[in-house]
Amino acid sequence: MRVLVTGGAGYIGSHTVLKLLERGDDVLVYDNFSNSSPEALRRVEKLSGKTLTSTEGDLRDAALLKKSFDTFKPDAVIHFAGLKAVGESQAKPLEYYSQNVAGSIILLQCMQEFGCNRLVFSSSATVYGDARKIPIDEEQPLGPVNAYGRTKYFIEEIIRDWCASKSDASSVLLRYFNPVGAHESGMIGEDPNDIPNNLMPFIAQVAVGRREKLSVFGGDYPTRDGTGERDYIHVEDLAVAHLAALDFSENTNGSHAINVGTGNGATVLEMVAAFGAAAGRDIPYEIVARRSGDVAQCIASVSLASKLLNWTARYGLSDMCASTWRWQSTNPTGYSVEDN
Ligand code: NAD
Ligand code: UFG
Repeated sequence: MRVLVTGGAGYIGSHTVLKLLERGDDVLVYDNFSNSSPEALRRVEKLSGKTLTSTEGDLRDAALLKKSFDTFKPDAVIHFAGLKAVGESQAKPLEYYSQNVAGSIILLQCMQEFGCNRLVFSSSATVYGDARKIPIDEEQPLGPVNAYGRTKYFIEEIIRDWCASKSDASSVLLRYFNPVGAHESGMIGEDPNDIPNNLMPFIAQVAVGRREKLSVFGGDYPTRDGTGERDYIHVEDLAVAHLAALDFSENTNGSHAINVGTGNGATVLEMVAAFGAAAGRDIPYEIVARRSGDVAQCIASVSLASKLLNWTARYGLSDMCASTWRWQSTNPTGYSVEDN
């Protein structure tokens, strides 16, 4: 299969591209490297032993994207590219709508022009907002509570409308819960610019000595230990879910929104303990005020993924922490080789 992967140099994209190459698919990565490094693609090549083609370009550069469709002639697209920081999306909503929503429309227009009808899209559990029932199934009402979440919601709707207008199009909207972890080699992983917003990369940077301590946002939630509970999913499992979604899209029409998680929750303090055990060192932390916009619990119902994609997560917390630690300790400053 020929798969065009937007945002393929990023955290989840690089792990997925590796799996595509390993199973023999032809891949073209289309990425503007705004939040990633070409070094990630070089490492994917090394791990797979294959040459990887990539084009440096922005989603909204319609002429360049068209050229990529024209020369590569993809059978399917996996669409990771976009901005993803919740706080930044509130400060710069138009930038988020432009890159995420307008960029996705240009991508769909290219797909339409070149007769490519199969799409797997990176959506997020954030589309559920403050979901009322845990675990969250795909039928629960959507209600994103920030600009980033609304971009995902709008893109889902746009993709649905596009699919409904065609008799032979299919799309899988994968709603990721909390992706963490790294490839077992420790050669590729999450490499956030600036101070990490997310829990796992922050803990990893504390463990490696780049940051003094973790601030635990809130100790008074109605959870086992008072800290926020999330459904952490290993990026390797998530990558496999994309391959399953691609295969599913080959034999189905229409749009399908599917949760990707494990169905199990871990609290912040449980993550701190699991990471400390994997790294063999204590993670200093301090409980501080709640972070605005956070919910107490966010846990997936995963039965639809099992039914439609025949996919379930294999890895647990200790694998997620051990692989993150391998990546972080061998690449303390991520892909910026000059500092390592
Ligand atoms: P990432 O930032 O590591 O990867 C995104 C990639 O897209 C980067 O390589 C970036 O350079 C590229 N990109 C961004 N804007 C672009 C544009 N306009 N044109 C071309 N390339 C562009 O992020 P990730 O964690 O790998 O996430 C991938 C996708 O999954 C995103 O759409 C994100 O919103 C979604 N998602 C991520 C999480 C998470 O916690 N990581 C959770 C839910 C959903
Ligand atoms: N947390 C801390 N300290 C930190 C960072 C996070 O205590 O320094 C806590 C949060 O309060 C929360 C938990 O750790 O209880 C997880 O927080 P993350 O920021 O790692 O993840 P979120 O669940 O807030 O959100 C993430 C992505 C969203 C995505 C969502 C669901 O950031 O983009 O998962 O997929 F939408």
